[in-house]
Amino acid sequence: MELTRRMFLKGSGTLGASMVLRQHGSPAPAGRVRTQLAASSLRPFVDSLPIPPLAHSSGARSSPIDPKRQIPYYRIAMRQFETKLHRDLKPTKLWGYDGISPGPTFQARSGQELMVEWVNELPKTHFLPIDHSIHGAEPDKPEVRTVVHLHGGKTPAKSDGYPEDWFVPGKSALCHYPNHQDAAMLWYHDHTLGINRLNIFAGLLGTFFVRDEFEDALGLPRDQYEIPLLLYDRILDLDAQLNYPTAPDPKRPWVPEVFGDAIVINGKIFPYLDVEPRKYRFRVLNGSNARFLHLSMSKNLSFHQIGTDLGLLPVPVPLEKIFLAPGERADLIVDFAGSSANQILLMNDIAPILQFRVAQKASAEFNALPQNLRPVPKLREASAAKTRTLSLVEVDDLKQRPVTMLLNNKHWSMPVTENPVLDSTEIWELVNTTDDSHPIHLHLVRFQILDRRSFEISTFWSTGQMRYTGPVVFPSAFETGWKDTVRADPGMVTRIIAKFEGFPGRYVWHCHILEHEDNEMMRPFDVLSAP
Ligand code: C2O
Ligand code: CU
Ligand code: CU
Repeated sequence: MELTRRMFLKGSGTLGASMVLRQHGSPAPAGRVRTQLAASSLRPFVDSLPIPPLAHSSGARSSPIDPKRQIPYYRIAMRQFETKLHRDLKPTKLWGYDGISPGPTFQARSGQELMVEWVNELPKTHFLPIDHSIHGAEPDKPEVRTVVHLHGGKTPAKSDGYPEDWFVPGKSALCHYPNHQDAAMLWYHDHTLGINRLNIFAGLLGTFFVRDEFEDALGLPRDQYEIPLLLYDRILDLDAQLNYPTAPDPKRPWVPEVFGDAIVINGKIFPYLDVEPRKYRFRVLNGSNARFLHLSMSKNLSFHQIGTDLGLLPVPVPLEKIFLAPGERADLIVDFAGSSANQILLMNDIAPILQFRVAQKASAEFNALPQNLRPVPKLREASAAKTRTLSLVEVDDLKQRPVTMLLNNKHWSMPVTENPVLDSTEIWELVNTTDDSHPIHLHLVRFQILDRRSFEISTFWSTGQMRYTGPVVFPSAFETGWKDTVRADPGMVTRIIAKFEGFPGRYVWHCHILEHEDNEMMRPFDVLSAP
């Protein structure tokens, strides 16, 4: 069987481990690749699932909007630390917000602003392989740089974590989050130009919930019955240290994607969770660099998806399997009521990754899942002031190894080409000319998926003409809500529609495969003040 890059992305999780080396294109010289620990050799389900602690505010500051108003102020320092990812492993060196990874969880109320001072207390040298040939990571740049982005946040540009707004150890950045948006699971993570993939791989990510009254009134499972699940894959070496792969050319260590065989959930590999036989709400994030997750439950248990990236769906959608690209979130209800005194597994493809130990009895009753959740008013195509056709491009070398990935054939440093007017609505057609599925993320806005349609790549390249080869495919029921990240599938045009509300200023849009993002698959866009 020939393994194409496209299959690689879509392929089964169990293949990931053995296929990492294939990414190098040719066998690496001895000593350059550290031997990989086989995660499958670890004893499963010996660590209980950690729940990241809440972030605590350390005082108040006056609001940048209205200086008379005092708002909560958080100080979160990024630090290097060591922790055990599994009972039987040595401690792993990581970077984390507040010295933990995942970082502390924020619980914000819609419309209640807060400030976070992100402080860089990391060492001055990086412990993962920087590629100095990548834009923004040239040898004259400091090795350790950070900037924090709140993914899904409707945030003023100054606080959005622009990739060039990085700061070095000893420095900090004060960010203002107005939280003027619907209840949703956001996440914060590093966004530094040229080394983002390494900083996040090192552990710089965490969750940020926005809550509101509408959600409260639905009576969904909460407190100990609402569990965040931050999933990401890692590669470890035999000393349990992060083993980020490198290409054979030491001057160009960048690899096009990283797939680890160790699926880490809230900071542990193969954890277990004690649950009661009742409904639970799981807030799932795919925080992987490149891995797409295909989640299901053992013993024919199914999910109800009740929300997507940026909020609740109109109605619960029953699903057997969830497909989550890097950056995407799913809001899920699982009912363990029929499974008392049983063990249920959360699977990624055919690999179990989390064990639920269901108790005999539930300590509390829970009412039925609401039939209606939150209306999602459709953005009308006719309301769009502009349609942009934007291609996704992979540039290969002569051996068909990818060298760089581009959006609309433009590099990061070229002049801004996407410049929607504040409060206007636009349709973006993402024309994927590559063999990979790329999860495309826009900062600032929430959008809806209009449809996907296959087209003829060769005609598009040679003439610029769009020749469709298949029927229009509407988004699946679980994609009909508010999104901030969308799968642009290979050979398809994916159309999204967004209203550019919020703030004028410079933001970014990019592929959320972090290796792609770091190697040019990211572009600035300007939201222009209305004339
Ligand atoms: Cu999840 Cu530009 O980020
Ligand atoms: Cu974002
Ligand atoms: Cu990509």
